[in-house]
Amino acid sequence: MATAAPPRCRRAEDAFRIHEDVPSTEDAEMNGHLHEDEEEEGEPMEELDDQESNFSESSEEEVIDGNIQEDMEKLQNAFPGFRHRYRLIKRIGEGTFSTVYKAEDLQYDRYDNSWDFEKETEKWSAPPLKSFTTQSSMTLESTIGSTPESQQLQQRRKPKFVAIKKIYVTSSPNRILNELELLHDLRNCPSVCPLITAFRQTDQVIAILPYFRHSDFRQYFREMTVPDMAIYLRSLFTALSFVHARNILHRDIKPTNFLYDPATQRGVLVDFGLAEREGVDCKPCLCHDDPLNRKNRLRAAHHASSAPHNGYPKQDTRPSRRANRAGTRGFRAPEVLFKCTEQTTKIDIWSVGVILLTILSRRFPFFNSADDVEAMIEIATIFGQKRMRAAGQLHGCMFETTIPTIGTAGFSLERIILWSTCRSDGGEKLSKYEQMAVDFLNRCMELDPGRRISADEALEHEFLSLGAEASTVETETVTEEDEMDILKV
Ligand SMILES: Nc1ncnc2c1ncn2[C@@H]1O[C@H](COP(=O)(O)OP(=O)(O)OP(=O)(O)O)[C@@H](O)[C@H]1O
Ligand SMILES: [Mg+2]
Repeated sequence: MATAAPPRCRRAEDAFRIHEDVPSTEDAEMNGHLHEDEEEEGEPMEELDDQESNFSESSEEEVIDGNIQEDMEKLQNAFPGFRHRYRLIKRIGEGTFSTVYKAEDLQYDRYDNSWDFEKETEKWSAPPLKSFTTQSSMTLESTIGSTPESQQLQQRRKPKFVAIKKIYVTSSPNRILNELELLHDLRNCPSVCPLITAFRQTDQVIAILPYFRHSDFRQYFREMTVPDMAIYLRSLFTALSFVHARNILHRDIKPTNFLYDPATQRGVLVDFGLAEREGVDCKPCLCHDDPLNRKNRLRAAHHASSAPHNGYPKQDTRPSRRANRAGTRGFRAPEVLFKCTEQTTKIDIWSVGVILLTILSRRFPFFNSADDVEAMIEIATIFGQKRMRAAGQLHGCMFETTIPTIGTAGFSLERIILWSTCRSDGGEKLSKYEQMAVDFLNRCMELDPGRRISADEALEHEFLSLGAEASTVETETVTEEDEMDILKV
């Protein structure tokens, strides 16, 4: 097995290093895939469909489908020694870039488990391992001797679970490396699911993450009270505050990437597959210019294009605009749709806003566009032509439409929520807490990223302080569902 990361000593401050083999023909072929997920124009096109990509572990069949069983066998055979380390249990997720399995960590006791967030909430205490050794220098037999410590260890038989993310071999090596590196940088961030380790065998990479019990968003979002929403968002913004402080954009904030357990009211942010560092691959955009300069440049551009012309040139010689548009449809910020070339961490805040709008309106998916133009139409229908035009101009774009349903002024988010929750007829109003949530939503769904609230500011907002009195729900380490998994050996 080619080990990609050192054994699990997550406190180690050394830089994350991937073991690299001498490039083989296979590696060279994989590089070719880099271009496959790019659009003809050359823009990265990383379109995800949140409605189809994942499934909930709670909705899965108890009997494992034959094909899944076969895939699990293949995975176990691909990595020599796999069966000594992990016992694959079931498939828990299937995304655009990976398949995720739940597995029992058979060698948990042999490593530094500082990543284990469940450890603190356990009623029993795990036996302290005085020194952490690598697998090569210690065997399981030698660990379990007859000392009191080892007797304690033998008593501790609550299984520990991990999530094994099998990244599709068609993913570009750069993308894989990027995800692992960012996860390594984000170690010790609260509410961010840490990377335990990673392995590579020829072109197959697997990332090992702590298993986090969670429910399907679609099963609980309609029942959430306003304080529930605040607790959920507090956890998500805590993660984003740390991620953004390290100048990292997640780029794919959506319910399936924030694993949340309504029973314990804890959540973790996962999936840094599309994440990037702020400022990488950036070109100056008008939105970062000072307002006067922007006005003058827009005026000049408008003047140049307002000369009479018949139709459009066959050969448009204007350079095409390239911008990162990675993300999931329905969750993309307006500046992403307007192809801003200087995107910031604020794109994640917009996506959180879409999640909150979904919860408050009790509609999932809230936005359901087929492409970016439709996505702009959806946003413009709510915010109105006037504000949408101004939002486009910020990035040097003209937004014009003759669609009659897009009014000049649009609608308030309050109205949208009342409509979508069928409260528009009787002159009903939002409750005091709902109004507080809507005020917060307005700050997250600011069309201008410069005015949009930051994660740190969000954590100071009165709405999120509703979620500050963290829930004290008792956390049972091994759930009924886990017990069932143990039985299915
Ligand atoms: N640490 C974990 N604990 C439990 N389940 C997990 C964990 N990590 C991922 N999953 C499950 O696997 C799913 C897919 O994981 P992830 O988002 O990392 O993969 P992906 O291929 O990038 O997905 P997508 O393309 O849908 O965004 C998650 O939505 C979740 O249900
Ligand atoms: Mg995902």
